[in-house]
Amino acid sequence: EKQGFRHFMLKEIFEQPGVVRTCLEAYISSDWSAGENDSSSAIPDQNPVAGDTPSITTPIQLGLPESLYENLEHVQILACGTSWHASLVGKYLIEQLAGIPTMVQYASEFRYAPSPLTRNTLTIGVTQSGETADTLAALEMEKRRRIGLGQEYQPRLVGITNRSESSLAHLVPHIIETFAGMEIGVAATKTFVTQLVVFYCLALDLAYQRQTLPPSRIAEIIAGLRQLPSQIELVLSRQEHYLEELAHEFDETQDFIFLGRGINFPIALEGALKLKEVSYIHAEGYPAGEMKHGPIALLDSKVPVVAIAMPGTVYEKVLSNAQEAKARDARLIGVTPMHDPEAAQTFDILLSVPVVEELLSPILAVMPLQLLAYHIAARRGLDVDQPRNLAKSVTVE
Ligand code: M6R
Repeated sequence: EKQGFRHFMLKEIFEQPGVVRTCLEAYISSDWSAGENDSSSAIPDQNPVAGDTPSITTPIQLGLPESLYENLEHVQILACGTSWHASLVGKYLIEQLAGIPTMVQYASEFRYAPSPLTRNTLTIGVTQSGETADTLAALEMEKRRRIGLGQEYQPRLVGITNRSESSLAHLVPHIIETFAGMEIGVAATKTFVTQLVVFYCLALDLAYQRQTLPPSRIAEIIAGLRQLPSQIELVLSRQEHYLEELAHEFDETQDFIFLGRGINFPIALEGALKLKEVSYIHAEGYPAGEMKHGPIALLDSKVPVVAIAMPGTVYEKVLSNAQEAKARDARLIGVTPMHDPEAAQTFDILLSVPVVEELLSPILAVMPLQLLAYHIAARRGLDVDQPRNLAKSVTVE
């Protein structure tokens, strides 16, 4: 059932164009487009009554009751591991597109030191398995401490999961499914990118309902999202053999640093986690601007640095952070836009992806990092799908 792939992880990496497409189709209305909606008449009723069906098609259909969004002041997200990384991208999107202050907490930390309660707060639990003990317990605690307080503190709970039948579904009244299909490899790949897709949809839905973005901008982002499956396909097909070849250069490597900024900082964390999990190489993900506050001391010719440098607000900054690493003899690997002369000058190794707007770049940027981790581990002859000491879902505290 590996369908010709050597490992489930590789098979699941290659399933990503399809599952991203499925997830987008599930939540984005096919009959909503900028042309028809880019006028004030497209703006829905300003004071919708909870439970009312909107009179016009909305761009995103998550199946959530409108009451969840009413007077919303805060979003808090609880998760672990890779789901926590997806949540950090979610925070960026919800804050930047919908303007709602958003906190992301490790469920295992939140359980024993919950933040003071905020009013009108949407709590989102993110767990692909729907069985992670810490995430379930944190959500349960949050539910319990809100029940009985006034209306403004009532729990509003949503779960994002790949398993709609899981324990999570018994705990929260609303589930947003990621439709990634069964993931066997312990390292999360396709469930991660579909969690990202759900966060794009959620942030756009909030932005639409709260009118923080004009419909034309929403349509533009949706058009960009719809391009992603074929762009992912392109990245995977172009880089699969290249990364397989490249992997042998890291036979002796013991440490890696991953740098990213802004919306791609969580992708640096995810790249480092994938590498640690499957190849047992020590790796750290860092916000590129923080490197000079400590980790730069680790750098020498034996420590490769992977920097995610995608065009946008922090592009030049990341390039200059990468140059600081180069000055310490680090081998520089760049996840960069295709055909970019500046990137070609800066990096020793280019893992290039199609040029997309910064907001959409995480889904493409993570692809080469998944392949890098996979090929280094496979080359080392490790049990990629069942790494030592790890389980697919962590059902104990
Ligand atoms: O099932 P969950 O999304 O709740 O799992 C959370 C983490 O245990 C999980 O993401 C873990 O970090 C993965 N092995 C990452 O690849």
